Amino acid sequence: MEHLLAPSILAADFANLERDIHMVNASQADWFHLDVMDGVFVPNISFGMPVIKSIAKHAKKPLDVHLMIVDPDRYLSEFADLGADVLTVHAEACSHLHRTLGQIRDLGMKAGVALNPHTPVESLVDVVDEIDLVCLMSVNPGFGGQRFIERTFQKTKAMRRLLDQANSKAYVEIDGGVGPDNWSDLVEAGADVLVAGSSTFNASDPHSAIIEMKGL
Ligand code: DX5
Ligand code: ZN
Repeated sequence: MEHLLAPSILAADFANLERDIHMVNASQADWFHLDVMDGVFVPNISFGMPVIKSIAKHAKKPLDVHLMIVDPDRYLSEFADLGADVLTVHAEACSHLHRTLGQIRDLGMKAGVALNPHTPVESLVDVVDEIDLVCLMSVNPGFGGQRFIERTFQKTKAMRRLLDQANSKAYVEIDGGVGPDNWSDLVEAGADVLVAGSSTFNASDPHSAIIEMKGL
């Protein structure tokens, strides 16, 4: 499988969002990663529906929406209407994860589930058939630009094993602190989608940074 790069818009310049979206459209990046934070599930507030609506108008690549919010069931259909292609909820934020994932698929989106660094991959054993993407947090969610947690390499391998054993074709996505220093080790460990916020948008030349990370 090809390895996909998803620039996190959290690291874009919100006063020049259209410019940054066009940069991603014209680049070798694959998806838009959109981080929605509610100030409750995580200690930060990012952006919500009106901003995603504006992004969707210009984005020419799939929208990978990462919900860091409590009780995401309340908003699933709204995100479908906004044009989310992948909708990822946190396992820690869902009391009925199996049902939530089924609803996401019923709404026509890929169902993603994110795990905080402390949540073991084994917690997904009984929902593995309902998952299209697993997002392993390689930082504690809430902020861009944090340091990558090294333990993620082992966790990625363990996740890949678990999915293979279940004959699952779900993507493994890694989110937080990803850049040129850990990209190839993550790919080797079994990552399919790599979220890159700071390492894309803070680079002096984002286009070359993307090409370099993807090894093109
Ligand atoms: C963290 C977010 C990440 C973040 C990644 O809570 O889920 O997607 O934007 O940013 P970097 O790549 O800068 O660590
Ligand atoms: Zn994210």
